[in-house]
Amino acid sequence: MTERLEDIAAKMVADAKGILAADESTSTIKKRFDSINLESTEEARRDYREMLFRADDAMKNYISGVILYEETLFQKAADGTPLAELIKAAGSIPGIKVDTGAKPQTFFPGETITEGLDGLGDRFKKYYEAGARFAKWRGVIAIADGLPTWGSIKANSQALARYAALAQANGIVPIVEPEVLMDGAPGTHSIDTCAEVTEWVLRTVFQDLYDARVSLEGMILKPNMVIDGKNARKASVEEVAAKTVKVLKATVPSAVPGIAFLSGGQSSEEATAHLSAMNAGYDLPWGLTYSYGRALQADALEAWGGKKENVAAGQRAFTHRAKMNSLAAAGKWTKEQEKAA
Ligand code: 13P
Repeated sequence: MTERLEDIAAKMVADAKGILAADESTSTIKKRFDSINLESTEEARRDYREMLFRADDAMKNYISGVILYEETLFQKAADGTPLAELIKAAGSIPGIKVDTGAKPQTFFPGETITEGLDGLGDRFKKYYEAGARFAKWRGVIAIADGLPTWGSIKANSQALARYAALAQANGIVPIVEPEVLMDGAPGTHSIDTCAEVTEWVLRTVFQDLYDARVSLEGMILKPNMVIDGKNARKASVEEVAAKTVKVLKATVPSAVPGIAFLSGGQSSEEATAHLSAMNAGYDLPWGLTYSYGRALQADALEAWGGKKENVAAGQRAFTHRAKMNSLAAAGKWTKEQEKAA
């Protein structure tokens, strides 16, 4: 029996679990490894990700799905087990990043368009076969003087909609990720500017999803939080939560089963605090959880440091962050629990 998209999507955001974004491209993971002075070889990437996927407590209790980069989906653990099988064995769902990156958009200085649509239908068949049941595509919107432009928002939104339709046609739940950057240059914009741009982007995306005949019940939205730019940070946790919920309620239909945030350059603890404040303080029509990359992995990467003898320490750090975020997805995280660990 084929699984229904709605059931997969519901499972991705149920039970105070969330998604681990471990889909760094080869160039992005190199940057992460540079921070611990580790050379980014295929084996090092395998070892790092195997460490995360073998963190049993975290994977079984707090992680509903893992977004993989293509290399990882087809990679085997040191003992020969496919990494995707490790994820499934923990009761979690393997997913796949399918866009091929944000490239400079012709005639739109300072803006990008995400590529990867050509041949995507055939790629989905291959990914499904390898066990992927959901996918991710990230469109990137930058705020700067005179940006974003309508032309860039519209082009990125239509690409997201075409990707989402192709995913669903192949039995795969699309994570639709339109990211309004918090850490793009110059990063000095206010939280109200972020709210305005995020609302504009999400209204456009849901119109294009409708026009592309995408089933809202069979998708997950992965948005940025409404937050001030990286070089302008001063909004309180309460303000981020209130403004994010306001924009999401105004733009995301309640037919969408779940919203899973990106962390976007927030510190690990900030990303947790913001999520918890939203779940604790508001009545919400969708599941609201995490799909963090950096905010789930930063501590684990540092604790591991690329050394075999630190695998257990890396797994402990990952498990702690995953647990804190699971509490946040239930609206039950406190600073004291952070310290108790
Ligand atoms: P961050 O949480 O590090 O922003 O990564 C999430 C992600 O998948 C970005 O595409």
